[in-house]
Amino acid sequence: MSELLLQATDLARHYSVSRGLFKPKATVKALNGVSFTLAPKKTLAVVGESGCGKSTLARQLTLIEPPTHGSLKIRGTDAATAEPATLQRLRRDVQMVFQNPFASLNPRKTIETTLAEPLLINTPMTAAERRERVAELATKVGLRPEHLRRYPHMFSGGQRQRIAIARAMILNPGIVVADEPVSALDVSIQAQILNLFMDLQDEFGTGYVFISHNLSVVEHVADEVMVMYLGAAVEIGEKRRLFGAPLHPYTRALMSATPALKRADRRERIVIHGELPSPLNPPTGCAFHKRCPLAQPRCADEVPLLREVDGRRVACHVV
Ligand SMILES: Nc1ncnc2c1ncn2[C@@H]1O[C@H](COP(=O)(O)OP(=O)(O)OP(=O)(O)O)[C@@H](O)[C@H]1O
Ligand SMILES: [Mg+2]
Repeated sequence: MSELLLQATDLARHYSVSRGLFKPKATVKALNGVSFTLAPKKTLAVVGESGCGKSTLARQLTLIEPPTHGSLKIRGTDAATAEPATLQRLRRDVQMVFQNPFASLNPRKTIETTLAEPLLINTPMTAAERRERVAELATKVGLRPEHLRRYPHMFSGGQRQRIAIARAMILNPGIVVADEPVSALDVSIQAQILNLFMDLQDEFGTGYVFISHNLSVVEHVADEVMVMYLGAAVEIGEKRRLFGAPLHPYTRALMSATPALKRADRRERIVIHGELPSPLNPPTGCAFHKRCPLAQPRCADEVPLLREVDGRRVACHVV
């Protein structure tokens, strides 16, 4: 078995979309070739503007839909060619936490029923064993025993996210993919939930893919950071290196737009102009060149490939 939990190679998801009755279909390259690995007990944070493909990536990693190109290995097993029984095991091993915990919890089921369900479906545990496992995990996520008999609407947003996290962790998965898990919560609650994620990771060794557009959140939780722009990674590397000296002009722009992080990049402030281009009609060359203050003529023609610079990988002709 591979030491790595996840190994994505050139993973891509394209969608064919209709543009109107008499027009040919167009292709949205929602995710356009990303490669990374995730090791146990590590957190890969994925950042980027709305529409850059973060949730599309999450759907590939959780096997909700298959990629159109590239490969995904989960603990060394290629998901595309796995037998049904293996696939079922892989699915159990990758759990997901969503932004809105209310939408992901069944309003008509008690918390106990919701948490016990995956055990009922996937394990031979007896009712008593399930109750014990549910109670144990509920305590670990900061719920009290009496909470288990209640329904989702009786909880605050933060508590509901604790419940959603408990449900994701109940089968002790190797990997949790969290898509903006604190974005809908009050700032005062966000840190508590982030700390909960980190405590659970310490205890169970879970690997996280943590999606967030908020760089302060990313700085708190990440080991590695992948910065995405229009479906592709523009910079990927260790958090300390990226935050200490971001290289890609887009990474630098994101960082200089986050006031709490300004100290991270002491070079000149980079401001991006213009709108995010439509993924239906992406710019030629570097997808960022039209908004990039450092763009040179070749940036409009040649797609920059990720290459190793100063201990991380960056896709830019200029740096
Ligand atoms: N099923 C689909 N069919 C067609 N296009 C899609 C589909 N899913 C996503 N897209 C497009 O793919 C691109 C990436 O979407 P995605 O939801 O992955 O972005 P995101 O980074 O999660 O954004 P946000 O921060 O707003 O959640 C967008 O342009 C989106 O419109
Ligand atoms: Mg999203």
